[in-house]
Amino acid sequence: MRRKIAAGNWKMNGTSAALTELEALRALLPPDAPEVVICPPAPLLFRATETAGPIAIGAQDCHMQDAGAFTGDISAAMVADTGASYVIVGHSERRSAHEESNANVRDKAEAAWAAGLTAILCIGEALEDREADNTLDIIGGQLSGSLPDGVSATNTVIAYEPIWAIGTGKVPTLDQIIEVHDFIRARLITRFGQDIGDAIPLLYGGSVKPENAATIFRADNVDGALVGGASLKAADFAPIITALAKS
Ligand code: 13P
Repeated sequence: MRRKIAAGNWKMNGTSAALTELEALRALLPPDAPEVVICPPAPLLFRATETAGPIAIGAQDCHMQDAGAFTGDISAAMVADTGASYVIVGHSERRSAHEESNANVRDKAEAAWAAGLTAILCIGEALEDREADNTLDIIGGQLSGSLPDGVSATNTVIAYEPIWAIGTGKVPTLDQIIEVHDFIRARLITRFGQDIGDAIPLLYGGSVKPENAATIFRADNVDGALVGGASLKAADFAPIITALAKS
């Protein structure tokens, strides 16, 4: 059985007052909860790891270099030093707003591993790609370009987030989700072999809500979710976690 993971990406939301949501989420975790990860903004990482209890904490990005003249950036070692155990790399908002290439994302994943972090590596097609029927080509290209060779069953989680579904309330059909997740699984097995390829958790992200989570989790190769807006409030995220636990 693959690990199931419910990950929340708070994006640029939340000051220290938001840590009460983390405490509230702890109290709402079902007894059979899958792995839960919260990725708060970087300034909250230290305090989040202190209050998280069984919830794992992750950063939303890291630099690919160990140290140096990179004003405003944070290294993977700095993330690990906060007690965090995950880092998101290659989120579409970073790929577009910060012009991160597949090669950058690959280097960031390797930096994350070197610091002992698990990389949550994001891929996903734009609306034009979907409409032009290019989704699988784009996903295949992102996988080969941004996944380093050293992938293991524990150092990487892949999140498929169609860009057009992020923050829009639009969700692909279950068949579309199944098609992409099955494709990713097949590609991983071809490249890394059956054992590793089959063990890497695949998360779906993009407008996951308490109302649609159970349906999305029906897909065999969906092992969890990367949730934005609905992870900000414990009362919204907890039912998604419960739906995953039941799936
Ligand atoms: P929403 O759940 O707000 O659509 O965001 C998804 C996302 O980008 C998570 O990384």
